[in-house]
Amino acid sequence: MEIEPFSLERWFDQYEHDADIMLAESGIRSLDSSEFDTDPGELGYVIPTDGDPEFKAEIAARYDRGPEEIAFTCGTQEANFLAVLAAMGEDSHAVVVTPTYQSLQAVPEAVGEISRVWLEPPDWNLDVEEVREAIRPETELVVLNNPNNPTGRYHSREIVETLYDVAAANDAYLLCDEVYRLLAGETVPPVASMGEHGVSTTSLTKAYGLAGLRFGWLCGPTELLGGARQWKDYTTISPPIFGQHVARQALGEEHEADILARNRDLAARNRERVREFISEHEHQGLTWHDPVGVNGFLAVPDGFESGRSFCRRVVEEESIVLAPGECFAGLSGGSEEAGTNSPSDVPNLAEYFRFGFGLPSSELEEGLSRLGDFLERHR
Ligand SMILES: Cc1ncc(COP(=O)(O)O)c(C=O)c1O
Repeated sequence: MEIEPFSLERWFDQYEHDADIMLAESGIRSLDSSEFDTDPGELGYVIPTDGDPEFKAEIAARYDRGPEEIAFTCGTQEANFLAVLAAMGEDSHAVVVTPTYQSLQAVPEAVGEISRVWLEPPDWNLDVEEVREAIRPETELVVLNNPNNPTGRYHSREIVETLYDVAAANDAYLLCDEVYRLLAGETVPPVASMGEHGVSTTSLTKAYGLAGLRFGWLCGPTELLGGARQWKDYTTISPPIFGQHVARQALGEEHEADILARNRDLAARNRERVREFISEHEHQGLTWHDPVGVNGFLAVPDGFESGRSFCRRVVEEESIVLAPGECFAGLSGGSEEAGTNSPSDVPNLAEYFRFGFGLPSSELEEGLSRLGDFLERHR
C-alpha cells in the first residue's frame, strides 16, 4: 500500500516554524486550558477503549443513534481513516468530492481506487448527477466534506440528502467529514442522522478551538463501526484520557453554547473584515466564494504564475504563511507542479490559495496590513 506525501503538511513544515503570521490555519484560534478542569485522575487508557459508555450515548443521541454506533477517536483524522479502512477493501472503489482535505482522497486511494467529482468554481457547486455517474458496482463509499475545506462551500440540506439517496440506492456509505459544521449559522443535519448509509466524522478541533485534545469520533451503522473498532485496536487503541476529560466539559451544558457562540462570533467578525479587504483589492484579481467556516479559497492576484509562487513570495517578503491551491489537488500531491496542468474539465487549483481567518482579530489585522503592503508593491 502506498500513500502520497501530505502536500499541505509538507508546505507548512517548510515555512510555519519561522514565519511571523499564520494565515493558512484552517481552524478557529485555540482556547486556553485554564477554561477547564485538566485533571482526569488516573492516567490510564480510556476504558472501554472506544469511549466512556455514558458519554458515547450522549453524543450518539445527537445523531439519533445508539452508543454502539459511535466510537471516540484521536481527532477527525483517525475517524476518517477508520471509516475508510472499515468500508473499503483492495478491490473496492470510492467517489470523492474534490477539492478536499488531502486525507479524504489519499487514504481511499491508498486502499482501493477512487474517482474524483469536482466542485464547480466560482461557487464550488456540487452536481450530484456527476456522483451518480461515477458510481460503479464496486463503489463502497461516497466521500464529502461539508462545509468544505478548502473552498468554504456549505452544500445545502437538499444537496446532501440527494447525495445520501444516491449513495444508499447503490448500497454505498456516504462518509461526511463534518468537522466545520458547527461554525455554520444554520446547520445541515449530520449524515449519520439521515439513515443507515450515513457515516459522520468530526472532532473538537475546528469549531471548538480544541485541536490539542485530539478528540473526535465517527458515528454510523453498527456493521461499519465494528470494522472501525477492529482497525482502531491497531492504530491508537483508545482516545487520550485528557481529551475525553476536557471534551466532556466542553460539550456539557455549562460550556458548549458559550464556546460555540464565541467562536462563531469571532469567525463572523473576521470574515467580514476579510470580505472588506478582498473588495478593496478586487481590481487586482482577488475574489472568493463567501465561505462558511474560517477558510476562504481566494483567486491568486493578477501577475502571479501560480498559487505556489504567490504564496512563496508572500512568505519570503512578509513572513506570512498562506496555503497554495495546489496542495488540495490531490492529483500528485507532493509534486511542485501538482494541479498546474489540470485537464480542461478539472478546475485549475493553482489559480487559488487558501486563506484562514480563524485567528485572533489583532493578528488578522497585522496579517492583512502586511498583505496589503505586498499587494501595493506588486500592482
Ligand atoms: C476537513 C478536515 N478533516 C479533518 C481534519 C483534521 O482534524 P482533527 O484535528 O480533528 O484530526 C482537518 C484539519 O485541517 C480538516 O480540514
